[in-house]
Amino acid sequence: MTNRSLLGTASNSPFSPDFGKTPHSLVGRDSLLAEVGSGLVSGPDDQRYTSILMGVRGSGKTVALNEIEDRAAAEGWVVLSMDAGTPGLLERIVQSISEAERAYDALGLNDSRTKRAVEKSIGIRLGPLVGKIATTEDHELRSRMGLREHLTYLVEAAQQNGSSVLLTVDELHGIDRTEGRRLSNDLQHITKRAEMPLAFLGAGLLELKHTLMRDRKMTFFHRCEHFDMPPLSTADAMVGFAGPVRGADGAISDDALRLAAGAVDGSPYRLQVIGDIAWKIAGAPDREIDSSAVETAVNTANSVMNTKISVPAWHDLSEADQGLMGAVALNGGIATSDEVARGSMLDKRVVGNALSRLADLGYVDKPDRGVFRLTGLVPHEVILDEIGHADDSIASAAVFPRPKCRKFMPRAKAYCLLPQDHSGGCRSKHP
Ligand SMILES: Nc1ncnc2c1ncn2[C@@H]1O[C@H](COP(=O)(O)OP(=O)(O)OP(=O)(O)O)[C@@H](O)[C@H]1O
Ligand SMILES: [Mg+2]
Repeated sequence: MTNRSLLGTASNSPFSPDFGKTPHSLVGRDSLLAEVGSGLVSGPDDQRYTSILMGVRGSGKTVALNEIEDRAAAEGWVVLSMDAGTPGLLERIVQSISEAERAYDALGLNDSRTKRAVEKSIGIRLGPLVGKIATTEDHELRSRMGLREHLTYLVEAAQQNGSSVLLTVDELHGIDRTEGRRLSNDLQHITKRAEMPLAFLGAGLLELKHTLMRDRKMTFFHRCEHFDMPPLSTADAMVGFAGPVRGADGAISDDALRLAAGAVDGSPYRLQVIGDIAWKIAGAPDREIDSSAVETAVNTANSVMNTKISVPAWHDLSEADQGLMGAVALNGGIATSDEVARGSMLDKRVVGNALSRLADLGYVDKPDRGVFRLTGLVPHEVILDEIGHADDSIASAAVFPRPKCRKFMPRAKAYCLLPQDHSGGCRSKHP
């Protein structure tokens, strides 16, 4: 079953513990995709015609964006697929529109694999416009056109051919402010004012709520429909594990399946990491994936999550926010704004507002009024690690507990709450 070469053995895992990769089983996204899809087919009058997906790292934004792009392209839409992770977004949009004609011409259109590669490299799928936009004569004129003219030109061409254009922008939180304002302005003009068939789908981290959405010069983005990426339910996760395993001729015991699904904690990325590790540890597909393989996988997945999600998410925070998160962590992972204010000597209201913002960003939740608790985005032990837990003046105070063990306990479906170096067995509840 395994594919061996002199270089090594290729992985035969049906899971995708990576970012931006469409999984074997896309689960828990039916209603989101249906909402966005209905918005697109309803046209510019529908608020969902211009939408933004928001969620923490690994919540499946890029995958959802890709799925919508594929569905739109299959329906004959012209799809312009962009990424705002690096500066120069507007220039890249203009360039891909200008390059599209030349790239398709050079292609000869017969080889669909080459076509796909070219489409990816220029970020545009022309659909019905192949061979119909731009001529060599007007190339020079077009090179002097700005973003709005380029987009209008493309949208008009699509309209004349009974099609529409979908512009997608991933990593929207990374957009340069000046570029964001210009894009907002141009899209507002084309889509909202002129009601031309240019749909927009953006995706980015939750911080968008406090950056783009608060910028008064980016009204287009405020008026888009906003979708929070839904966490995967346990039932979704069961399908997300069972589908790929069975599809790759493997097997997983019922207990192992329940155990794995219970540990996903809503995160698509965590699902893929646990599935991939369990598959490899068990020696699937030759051997069944059992509970012990899943148990080990869940614990290993925690450290992968820390490196790939939690540590980058911690470094996305300002020093001041890190200080507040540190204070909550040192208070045992849950604290009132009063407690944090007392520890940090900051004004109670300032602390309350800052913690509420961190709640919007997914770092803490609010189990009760005025109470803030760390979520799994940056877990307790990662924060203690990051702040060095070295501030003895604080750490030695009896009220601040030591880092926790957090070993996963399959039967209790919970993490150990005892201190890291505890003796005896793990416990999910304090004795
Ligand atoms: N609905 C889903 N069902 C199963 N797995 C999924 C789903 N969505 C995403 N995944 C898996 O999770 C991984 C992370 O997804 P994706 O890259 O889309 O996250 P993201 O939100 O874009 O993350 P980032 O903010 O870091 O860019 C993907 O590689 C994919 O395999
Ligand atoms: Mg992404």
